[in-house]
Amino acid sequence: PPRVVVLISGNGSNLQALIDAQSHDRLGGEIVAVISNEPDAYGLKRARDAGIDAVALPHREYDSREAYDGALIKVIERHEPDVIVLAGFMRILTPRFVQRFLGRMMNIHPSLLPAYQGLNTHARALEDNVTQHGCSVHFVTEELDGGPVVLQAALNVADDDSIDTLKQKVQDREHLILPIAVQWFLQGRLQFSSQGATMDGHPLPLHGMR
Ligand code: GAR
Repeated sequence: PPRVVVLISGNGSNLQALIDAQSHDRLGGEIVAVISNEPDAYGLKRARDAGIDAVALPHREYDSREAYDGALIKVIERHEPDVIVLAGFMRILTPRFVQRFLGRMMNIHPSLLPAYQGLNTHARALEDNVTQHGCSVHFVTEELDGGPVVLQAALNVADDDSIDTLKQKVQDREHLILPIAVQWFLQGRLQFSSQGATMDGHPLPLHGMR
């Protein structure tokens, strides 16, 4: 089966969604390794519990971003992945790293891109009193959170939503869309170009989940 490497930094709830999809034959591939830059990430335990190779690669042990990303490339390539999934991997990537995996690396981001690139997306959305918020899966390019969008899920923001309630609602959707996007990719249905992604030749993102 196609090989999936997942990069995480924390809880790993999106990793869990990928693990669960795989166990229900809905991933289209096998998660062969989970790598975390945070050695205490709970997601590493999720990986081990699922019998997946769990690798801690602490960024604090490297002098520079270039040195770390070079080490990360080596660990990833040892596992010969078909796709690399960033599932809550909270690091900015060097151009060399991005170029190495261009067109076969996807990220889940907690906003309806291109809105709210970067951090603290839920707080900023609430601050702006938006009525719609959500999450996006996109191909990773050198532009931070700026690569071609593959799939999004939108939700209505309620008057009484807090950062925590909104985060929970968004993450529930993340867990739905991330495995779908990975499965599409591994089925060969997604085409990457810097102009935008397509599925079966149709421009993405679709808006069916809004
Ligand atoms: C997710 O909500 C993901 O969208 C976000 O981190 C969380 C990780 O949760 N990613 C980013 O903000 C990327 N800049 P998880 O560890 O439980 O999957």
